[in-house]
Amino acid sequence: MTQHIGVLTSGGDCPGLNAAIRGLGKVAREHYGMRVMGFLNGFRGLAQDQTVELDGAKLSGILTDGGTILGTSRDKPHRMSIGGKELDMTDAIIATYHRHHLDALVCMGGGGTQKNALRLAEAGLNVVTLPKTIDNDIALTDRTFGFDTALQIATEAIDRLHSTATSHERIIVVEVMGHRAGWLAVAAGIAGGADVILLPEIPYDVEKIASAIRRRTQSGKRFSIVVVAEGAMSMDDARLVQGLVQVRDAADTKPRRIEAKDKLRKFHDAHVGHTIGLTRALEQLTGQESRLTILGHLQRGGTPSAADRVFATWLGTECAAALDEKQYGVMLALQGTTLKRVPLAEVAGRIRQVPLDHPLIISGRRVGTAFGD
Ligand code: F6P
Repeated sequence: MTQHIGVLTSGGDCPGLNAAIRGLGKVAREHYGMRVMGFLNGFRGLAQDQTVELDGAKLSGILTDGGTILGTSRDKPHRMSIGGKELDMTDAIIATYHRHHLDALVCMGGGGTQKNALRLAEAGLNVVTLPKTIDNDIALTDRTFGFDTALQIATEAIDRLHSTATSHERIIVVEVMGHRAGWLAVAAGIAGGADVILLPEIPYDVEKIASAIRRRTQSGKRFSIVVVAEGAMSMDDARLVQGLVQVRDAADTKPRRIEAKDKLRKFHDAHVGHTIGLTRALEQLTGQESRLTILGHLQRGGTPSAADRVFATWLGTECAAALDEKQYGVMLALQGTTLKRVPLAEVAGRIRQVPLDHPLIISGRRVGTAFGD
């Protein structure tokens, strides 16, 4: 019997999605004789039955393209804005799945997607996921696709900022993405020879950063590059967040939990743009002219690196094999040099941060990079 497979991409886009769709689609169709259908704009397409047949023509010529031919969104199956109202679309999704006689659904996405995919698996759908995000923060996989390209873009930006920082004898603060994890910041910071790297995993003291910069000035180095992960925070802010997380996790009533969650959300909303304040503070503390560059969505755009094309293709083709073996409820994960099928339930809801004893942090410290602690 021909297997009928649905595919969607969800969450923030990243380079390599098309390579993964192509790898999966080609092998599923040509090797296993499956029929492959794409759903548009993440879980929304599944809820509203927006489809595209992934035939040979659609799968051809997309390997090197950035973004996703399927479109994406941050919509959640159980809380989707439809006609101005937030609705639970799980039943509509299940109905679409059965209307198309799907045998399985492949969800390519980051942390949020893994959680949503698990919800659908628990609602009875056969689901397999792939780990995609420039943040590299998905549990149980050593790598996610999109990360390598973003790392390359961020590193090139830091290289370019070096010459202008030197010419003007300035401090240049560079904010990189990464959500609540510092993989992109630490890797790009080391590759680009940053003088200071600030990560969510290591709360900083702005005085210590200023001292590190003053020491550089005293030794004759009249410029500094400070790479900051968007999720990095001061020691005071980190204590505040930790307190709120404790209240949320220990809350004995729903209203108390909601209140703590609300405060946490407000904190994170207000934290966007924190590097503006940090840049000003460094200028005041050191007396040295400072500038800020926020790399933003540049890091997610454009053609995937060779490494991401290879990795995403491997994941896609291996996913087709898992579907052929009817192995569901799993995410494909890189562990060492092999791809493993790990239970979705063990991935969803967890984030993988940079361990404090990770070789990236240790080697950064050894070459004299300050981490603000
Ligand atoms: O998860 C990928 C990511 O690029 C994060 O690094 C960043 O915090 C977030 O997405 C930005 O999301 P959006 O594109 O929705 O603004």
